[in-house]
Amino acid sequence: MGTVVANAGLEGFVVTDSRICAVDGERGRLLYRGIDIGELAQHSTYEETVYLLWYGELPNREQLEAFKSRLASEREVDESIWHLLLALPGRPQPMEALRTAVSALACCDPDNGFDHQEANLNKAIRLTAKMPTIIAYYHRRIQNKERVHPDPELGHAENFLYMLRGERPKPLEARALDMAMILMADHELNASTFAARVTASTLSDMYSAITSAIGTLKGPLHGAANQRAMEMLLEIGSVENAEPYIEAALAAKKRIMGFGHRVYKTGMDPRVVYLREMLHELCMRLGDCHFYHLPVVVASIVKEKKGLHPNVDFFAAPLLYTLGIPVNFFTPVFAASRVAGWTAHVMEQYENNRLLRPLSNYVGPMDRHYVPIEQRNGHLTESLTPVYAEACVQ
Ligand SMILES: CC(C)(COP(=O)(O)OP(=O)(O)OC[C@H]1O[C@@H](n2cnc3c(N)ncnc32)[C@H](O)[C@@H]1OP(=O)(O)O)[C@@H](O)C(=O)NCCC(=O)NCCS
Repeated sequence: MGTVVANAGLEGFVVTDSRICAVDGERGRLLYRGIDIGELAQHSTYEETVYLLWYGELPNREQLEAFKSRLASEREVDESIWHLLLALPGRPQPMEALRTAVSALACCDPDNGFDHQEANLNKAIRLTAKMPTIIAYYHRRIQNKERVHPDPELGHAENFLYMLRGERPKPLEARALDMAMILMADHELNASTFAARVTASTLSDMYSAITSAIGTLKGPLHGAANQRAMEMLLEIGSVENAEPYIEAALAAKKRIMGFGHRVYKTGMDPRVVYLREMLHELCMRLGDCHFYHLPVVVASIVKEKKGLHPNVDFFAAPLLYTLGIPVNFFTPVFAASRVAGWTAHVMEQYENNRLLRPLSNYVGPMDRHYVPIEQRNGHLTESLTPVYAEACVQ
């Protein structure tokens, strides 16, 4: 077979067939299993959307009730995971703690070591049910507060907020997080989903694939953009400061976090519309619209000055902030939402697997020879350092 050269970043390159999620970047459309994201955001729940992503169909009432209670029954995590969180050295960031805990979770799973379809579905259920608990426990640990155990009577998002805060959220707050989680549940072959599928394609297990995905989501060009976007909004502080701040950032060639997208170049990220509406409703209800007006103003300035649209992270950030979620927990909340999509993709990968193994285009020197150590002059290391350092600058 001939070699096809993809551009850097694999932009525009199709690597697999999938029945899970469709993104139309030109028209700004996003579909889960063929259903427009707007319909799901407005009418569905996170649990129902997870069912849709995994099974390909919406559940009937009976199926949904059974699915919800199965998810709720799997929320508690083994005591060893709590002790692991307590024992982690050096106070790791929440995403580091989540990555470590999810990896360890495999050891507590009765289906660990089994890779048939039912075992993988069980693992997907447990991961989706337990990740909010791990995140909430770690939040309480950082705050030196007692952990709040899951309440099986509450819906998925409502229980998540309850465990984070230690008190039951208002119905609109629970609905707001539920909607945000639906909107973040999947997004075709984004970097973390691709990472999960690459890991699964080696026939490694579901936990390894999700651990890869969490490590990939952690980067600021992907999931951590929501945290960076909120930090930027907090730094801007006031509507008056928005224009000079953005002008200075663009003049310094900085990236404005929460703007731009690999796929939505001509159309707007459709998730923004629903997050922005929900943010508005939430702010109105709470009687403080500062973190609605500020992002709206920043978005119009960035559009005018740089032609970039906001992406999901830019409006998810103030929404999560308004819900009282600490900024460094935004990306873990994203992970707890996206786990539905990751696991759906991993199961799809197993169904029709072929090892994902591309090539690199070697551009280095050829035909060199091994030089004994006493004859080396050390120039190579010095000349490599600046190249690496430059690549790391954002
Ligand atoms: C998401 C992202 C990585 C996609 O980028 P991409 O398709 O790889 O595009 P590139 O990084 O090649 O950027 C193309 C051009 O747009 C500019 N650009 C893209 N996003 C930008 C941003 N957020 N702020 C400022 N400039 C941006 C780049 O500087 C580049 O300009 P140049 O051609 O003058 O050098 C990019 O838009 C970005 O870094 N956004 C901020 C992080 C973010 O919000 N990530 C979450 C995505 S959901």
